[in-house]
Amino acid sequence: MNTLSLSARAGLLKPSPTLGITAKANAMKAEGIDVVSFAAGEPDFNTPEAVNEAAIAAIRAGFTKYTPSAGTPDLKKSIVAKLERDNGLKYTPEQIVVSCGAKHSVYNTMQVLLDPGDEVILIAPYWMTYAEQVILAGGVPRVVHTTLESGFVPTYDQLREAVTPRTKAIIVNSPSNPTGAVFGHQTLKEIATLALRHGFWIVSDEIYERLVYGDAKQESIASLGAEVSERTITINGCSKSYAMTGWRIGFAAAPVPVAKAMSNFQDQVTSNPTSFAQKGAIAAFNLPPDEVEAMRQEFEARRNLVVSLLRQIPGLRVPEPKGAFYVLPDASAHITGDLKTDIDLADYLLQEAKVATIPGSVFEGPGHLRLSYAASRADIEKGVARIAEALARRNA
Ligand SMILES: Cc1ncc(COP(=O)(O)O)c(C=O)c1O
Repeated sequence: MNTLSLSARAGLLKPSPTLGITAKANAMKAEGIDVVSFAAGEPDFNTPEAVNEAAIAAIRAGFTKYTPSAGTPDLKKSIVAKLERDNGLKYTPEQIVVSCGAKHSVYNTMQVLLDPGDEVILIAPYWMTYAEQVILAGGVPRVVHTTLESGFVPTYDQLREAVTPRTKAIIVNSPSNPTGAVFGHQTLKEIATLALRHGFWIVSDEIYERLVYGDAKQESIASLGAEVSERTITINGCSKSYAMTGWRIGFAAAPVPVAKAMSNFQDQVTSNPTSFAQKGAIAAFNLPPDEVEAMRQEFEARRNLVVSLLRQIPGLRVPEPKGAFYVLPDASAHITGDLKTDIDLADYLLQEAKVATIPGSVFEGPGHLRLSYAASRADIEKGVARIAEALARRNA
């Protein structure tokens, strides 16, 4: 036995292809190649100035030491107020755990909910981190596959068939990365009904809540009633709605025993999220609604642009995303000849069109490509034109 071996757990981890492709595209850019990137999962806007100023003032005032692990009382208070104002949810500060990004909140949640062999229902195509974090906690992902035809929304029967005696939780992500689906009231009610009937937890990742378009409405599943809220962990944060991806502030709002367990867990793993970033987060949650609305409107205009341009490309089937900043066209008609998978296709587009996209199989959505439209309108026009040309060249 090699005493210098790594743990079995370390071997379970798959590298993030999203970060891998982004790194490849960045390396090409560094070589001076003009790459248009639709890969990144982050807003291209600057963090609002009021947020920056609050954090700078906090540093100047010496607010640079440890804080309580689960967040400062002030930040928890502003999160409680935000949840009531924006989501119609009633929580107390002891139910809030602030972490180093929503990704960390999901991680803590899996660690405190799952025992080995516990199953978690994931609705595919899904953010791949969910599956990895379930597996890291010893759990087993149980995947429900949705399609473009159904707007990437699961049916009640599909969900019911995924429930087993080992079902411990379901992860709901609406608006969704990578599909842009926004689940309606009826779908949320069906999920809640199953969770109540079969006794499992609901983990609701609402990180894209502010980014919904047209007549789509984001609804927090915990607002369906006290008995639903008692089994729901609502996760959210600053990254996407306030252009604060680098600040690393996310939070979970959970029943008291879950919040306590997560807080104890975090005590031993990371301690508090960065002190002055927490001050910035308070400013973010108190931003005038106009400022966030301006970003949402720009994303909506970009969504409309990217969808209309992609729909002009023969062989792509392009859904209209209702939220977040991703579109997931079905490109399977272009997976032919030497391009055997969506990974080959994404690679072809990067090499030949100098456009970075993410292959759908990363999200258990093979045959698709994910394009993030967190890019300028000029880049959207240039990038989609290049995709159209590169695909036409293959078919010529
Ligand atoms: C669905 C979803 N949840 C959570 C996150 C992570 O957010 P944070 O930056 O707060 O960790 C992302 C980021 O890509 C995401 O797509």
